[in-house]
Formats: sequence, structure tokens, C-alpha cells
Amino acid sequence: MKKILTLVLVIFLLLISTFTLPVNAADAVNGEQIFSIHCAGCHINGGNIVRRGKNLKKQALKKYGMDSIEAVISIVTNGKSNMSAYKDRLSEQQIQDVAAYVIEQAEKGWR
Ligand code: HEC
Repeated sequence: MKKILTLVLVIFLLLISTFTLPVNAADAVNGEQIFSIHCAGCHINGGNIVRRGKNLKKQALKKYGMDSIEAVISIVTNGKSNMSAYKDRLSEQQIQDVAAYVIEQAEKGWR
């Protein structure tokens, strides 16, 4: 009986670690890299050198309805006025990662 319990526990822990930990870890790291290559040119430190008000800080994102992963995925995929679309340059996964990074940084105040 004890053996079975241990086995169940081990399997459970394995499942948790394969499905949650690596995905999250990859997200943050990937997102940061993608951001520094494709976005930092205009959005360094969460700012916006083209249209200053439309930065990536929490307040601005909220004001313009961009404070969700879905909204960020949408603007990155399709672009908007002076910001170009990234659907031909980044994969869906990369766009998701960079959007997760933007939201995470906005929460942290880009520090
Ligand atoms: C050429 C400069 C440029 C680059 C590169 C760029 N952006 Fe933008 N971004 C803009 C401009 C300009 C706007 C404002 C668009 C508008 O008129 O609403 C904007 C708006 C945004 C917004 C909405 C901000 C708000 O407060 O409404 C998000 C989110 C965003 N960009 C994310 C990204 C991400 C993520 C990347 C990289 C994949 C990226 N941008 C690359 C210029 C750029």
C-alpha cells in the first residue's frame, strides 16, 4: 500500500514538473530575448520612443485596453499604425511568450 502511494506521488510530481515548470521558465526567458531583439528598439524599458503616451507601463496599457495577454498578442500579430505586424517574423508561440513578458514586466513596473 505504501509503495503504491509513493508511486502515485512520484508520478504526480513528475506530471506537475513536466507540464508546468519548464513551460513557464521558457516563457519568461524566451519572451525577454524576443523583446530585446524585436521590441526594445522602440519600447526600451517599457517606453515608446515613437508615441510616448502609448508605452508598455501598466497605466497606459490599461488606458488603451492593452492590459491583457490577448490584447498584446493581437497588436503584435497585426500591428497598429506606426507599429508593424509581427505575424510574418515571429511564430505564434514567440508572440505569446513576448506578450506574457510584456504583461509580467508591466506588473513589475519594468524594473
Ligand atoms: C518601430 C517601433 C516599434 C516597434 C519595433 C514595436 N512597437 Fe509596439 N508600438 C509602437 C507604436 C508607435 C505604438 C502605438 C500604436 C498606436 O498608435 O496605438 C505601439 C504600441 C504597442 C503596444 C500598446 C501600448 C499602449 O499603451 O497602447 C504594445 C503592447 C506594444 N506596442 C508591444 C510591442 C511589442 C511586444 C513589440 C515587439 C514584438 C513591439 N511593440 C515593437 C512602436 C513599435
